[in-house]
Amino acid sequence: MTSSAPAPVLTQDELKALVGRAALDYVPKGEIIGVGTGSTVNKFIEALAGIKDQIRGAVSSSVASTERLRALGIEVFDSNAVDELAVYIDGADEIDGRGYMIKGGGAALTREKIVAAQSKRFVCIADASKLVNTLGAFPLPVEVVPMAARRIMRQFSRLGGLAQVREKDGTPLVTDNGQHIVDVTGLRITDPLGFENEVNRWPGVVEVGVFAHQRASVCLLATSSGVRTMTFG
Ligand code: 5RP
Repeated sequence: MTSSAPAPVLTQDELKALVGRAALDYVPKGEIIGVGTGSTVNKFIEALAGIKDQIRGAVSSSVASTERLRALGIEVFDSNAVDELAVYIDGADEIDGRGYMIKGGGAALTREKIVAAQSKRFVCIADASKLVNTLGAFPLPVEVVPMAARRIMRQFSRLGGLAQVREKDGTPLVTDNGQHIVDVTGLRITDPLGFENEVNRWPGVVEVGVFAHQRASVCLLATSSGVRTMTFG
């Protein structure tokens, strides 16, 4: 009788590197691709550098990713210079079994949604801890115009949420778009499409971090026993 050793338990960093490399299979040759933001995407960008001669370049969802891409010799295009992207590759803070996501932990949600909307396919890369039944345990990021922050926070409290302005070094964090982020806890988002529609109607909301209209087409989920692929049609 032979006994096979159990798969080693991978660290969070190793899981991110694993799924970052796996996403290379979704990069079409000779094209410009959409690139997201965050620690998982950083692993993807590192892997992408190894095949940079096979793509034309990228449209980036944040200043941070743009700097990283350029530092590795990958050309970054303005989103207005490109009509449609074949694929957008990005992480998520939460993803459910239908491909709906919460994003914006890195404060880049608005640009992420813009590049996702420009792309035919959204490939979400995440480790298995991001998979949830119902969105809302992760504090929901909402990008807001600063003068509307207090009123928007009151509106969330009417929905049962508790909102606070995200800070960095003791002052409100300023996004790449010059706006603020409100993070909302205590929500259970059972109807992501309806919720996204509703919150995006509130004056002063730049973008809500629920990605329902721009949900994932595919999710590559890293586990210690390999990468699981979920497709959402
Ligand atoms: C940034 C995002 C990220 O995709 C999300 O926060 C996941 O990040 P990480 O890969 O670091 O866990 O939405 O605005």
